[in-house]
Amino acid sequence: MGDSSSEDPVARVLAQFEQDTAQGTRSRSDFERLKGRFLGRDRGLVPALFANVKALPPSERAAFGARANAAKREIEEAIARLGEDLSRREQRAREASETVDVTLPGRRPRLGGLHPVTIVRRRIEQIFLRMGYSIADGPEIENDRYNFEALNFPPEHPARDSQDTFFVDRRASSPLLLRTHTSPVQIREMKKRGAPLKIIVPGRVYRNESVDATHAAVFNQVEGLAVDRGISLADLKGTVEEFFGALFGRETRARFIPTFFPFVEPGVDVAASCIFCKGRGCGKCKGSGWIELAGAGLVHPKVLAGCGIDPEEFSGFAFGLGLDRVAMLLYEFPDLRLLLDGDERFLRQFARQT
Ligand code: DAH
Repeated sequence: MGDSSSEDPVARVLAQFEQDTAQGTRSRSDFERLKGRFLGRDRGLVPALFANVKALPPSERAAFGARANAAKREIEEAIARLGEDLSRREQRAREASETVDVTLPGRRPRLGGLHPVTIVRRRIEQIFLRMGYSIADGPEIENDRYNFEALNFPPEHPARDSQDTFFVDRRASSPLLLRTHTSPVQIREMKKRGAPLKIIVPGRVYRNESVDATHAAVFNQVEGLAVDRGISLADLKGTVEEFFGALFGRETRARFIPTFFPFVEPGVDVAASCIFCKGRGCGKCKGSGWIELAGAGLVHPKVLAGCGIDPEEFSGFAFGLGLDRVAMLLYEFPDLRLLLDGDERFLRQFARQT
């Protein structure tokens, strides 16, 4: 007679089970494999035991069946315990991985900052608010009448060529376009509020330009308009000097050079003494000592009259300032396109300023 366990199927299955579980079950997949191997309905070693019953002589069947059932219960219970152990271990692992360490310092959210153009616009607004101006606003989609005609640019006038634009709707009774300057808000405000009037108008404007380091198709201006009795070029000069002094430093001077804009008479190009060399001449001002920043002049009588303001009683000055140029000067960056690129390496440098 050989080893009893090798001849007795029940003992063999129990021995196999003991061997397979000697190492414990490590993972969920180990466990499922073990369970299938012993209890699986089709191929499981335990169900297979009962297939032997029919081959036995009837006198041995009951005893065999009893032992097979005992073994089955034993294995089922052991597997159930292993399953519970496994579930407990899995639960503990989950809790460990999901634990929050409430003593860790928090992560500070990264604060955004103001765009350099916004910073400069707000500074300029503060300066003019102090001088008694109010801030006005107008639409970026403008009609031809306000953008050109009411500002004394007749149709087909060559001065329109200097402000080539993007048309939105050419068939409208007055064609719709993206405004090329903030000057049309002069018209809107004079029509709405009459005289006297002191406003500035910061805003975005559009030109059909080829883009390079100093030309953009989208940029920003600040328009200024003062209408009252007895306004002269001297008031314009004094206002611009006060403004430059507040923005660039008190030593800054303003220079006017005559030029043509259809909506002013006389018209002037306005320059500030170079803020880098104080007017002596340097690379930044191309040796001239001056940096051109605005167009300005005395509001043309036809423009006043067109807005219902009597040019015999009232006069006014106006100016239009390139806001992006001013930001470039103050922050000394070389390329206008940086203002529109949204590159964080550039914008981050302004994040702490308000
Ligand atoms: N609107 C002009 C431009 O964009 C600038 C300008 C010139 C505005 C003279 C004015 C002004 O108010 O008086 O080129």
